[in-house]
Amino acid sequence: MTEEQTLEDKAHNRTQRPQGQAFREFIGEDWGPRPAGPQRMVVADYTPARHKILSELFPGERLVFPAGDLTVRSNDTDYRFRAHSAFAHLTGLGGEDEPGAVLVLNPVEGGHEAVLYFHPRASRSSEEFYADSRHGEFWVGARLSAQEMGTATGLKVAHIGEMKDALAKDLGSVHIRVIPQSDAKVEALVAELRQQNGLTEGAAEADARLAEAASEMRLTKDEYEIAEMCKAIDVTKAGFEEMIRAMPRAINHWRGERVIEGAFQAKAREEGNGLGYETIAAAGNHANTLHWITNDGQLRDGELILIDAGAEVDSLYTADITRTLPINGTFSPAQREVYDAVLAACERALEVAQNKVQFKDIHAAAMEVIAQHLEKWGMLPGTAEASLSPEAQYHRRWMPHGTSHHLGLDVHDCAQAKRELYQDSYLEPGMIFTIEPGLYFRADDLKVPERFRGIGVRIEDDILVTENGAIRLSEDIPRTPDAVEAWMADLQK
Ligand code: GLY
Ligand code: MN
Ligand code: MN
Repeated sequence: MTEEQTLEDKAHNRTQRPQGQAFREFIGEDWGPRPAGPQRMVVADYTPARHKILSELFPGERLVFPAGDLTVRSNDTDYRFRAHSAFAHLTGLGGEDEPGAVLVLNPVEGGHEAVLYFHPRASRSSEEFYADSRHGEFWVGARLSAQEMGTATGLKVAHIGEMKDALAKDLGSVHIRVIPQSDAKVEALVAELRQQNGLTEGAAEADARLAEAASEMRLTKDEYEIAEMCKAIDVTKAGFEEMIRAMPRAINHWRGERVIEGAFQAKAREEGNGLGYETIAAAGNHANTLHWITNDGQLRDGELILIDAGAEVDSLYTADITRTLPINGTFSPAQREVYDAVLAACERALEVAQNKVQFKDIHAAAMEVIAQHLEKWGMLPGTAEASLSPEAQYHRRWMPHGTSHHLGLDVHDCAQAKRELYQDSYLEPGMIFTIEPGLYFRADDLKVPERFRGIGVRIEDDILVTENGAIRLSEDIPRTPDAVEAWMADLQK
């Protein structure tokens, strides 16, 4: 009887890797000097204040923030790595930095000490150097040394192999929390340590509270974050311009929406880390499917295309912008009518945000304008006022999503924040959120006047609350119908 080979062993069936000591010595010798390591990152001046917020909320507790690990796409290929946003926020690391790394805020006298556990590069005479496709220099490039990582982040660093003992130290008297759904292996390790030390009671709630705090502390952005958001919006504007330039080719393509999607993606990847979320390129009636990301439709003369796209820069901050463009460069009268209604809702929402209002008031303001237009078009069963009452809400048939969400490292940032700090919170300087009303008139919706059927419009801008009121960070991306037509004509000259 032949012995069954294990799955893990089978993975090695296609390798013919040299194993000998002589080879290891040979490959390890005669390499030139390494280039200078990275400079200290600008964000390193901002992370200590972020740690302090959590330190004060959880005195004496050990707090664990995994970067997360690679996710299998198929067989032995992984998705491109993107760190968990709490880890990115607290370390300043971005891009494809450090799958498997973990930031630990360790309780010490008077507060916490931040330690970054990661896998530093191995020497050239190690097997890892040439044989480890996950960490080896021949495979993934020269990783940072521990010293270089310390310089770049300003953090104390240690080898990931030392983390288990460090997490276990004094557990029992010290409590531990880990960000949920961040890294299954690290979470399992924390669960095991809790089990061993009688700390399982209330563990899930304790972890959820840490995630909530890590989310809530991002509700207002510091000046570094605001600058990164501006970069993300600049790249996104450049991406929209590439899409407009690509439109003549898209019109002649059997899946023109994909041409549009690809044009944005190329720019986002060239100038940033990539997409903050999957691009919606929704021509004609596709605009009325809110999360249309299949993007396999045609672009037809006389229709609109709704494009919702955001570039994520290397620091992992993302923009979130929607523009609805006339495919042939000119809005029809019916399209303009719908567009103007949505634009009026945007303007009203921004106006309301100039005051010390609650976050939810922005949505309410946009909905008033939307309902008034629907009443004028005879689409509501009664008045706009009646529709706006909490139990009626008829207007939401044509705008079923929210008007605003916080934006930052995640496109829907601060998603674990408590309601009182999100919808019910008053606007504060440093908040960044979207204003994105829309109207979605499906082609088969018999309650919609015929001239509007198949038209879907959303206009989405990114807003910063300053000491002097709310401003559109995306002001430079044309939004009025005339400005959009002029923008398109200019780019397609
Ligand atoms: N792009 C997702 C959103 O607008 O919320
Ligand atoms: Mn949005
Ligand atoms: Mn969007």
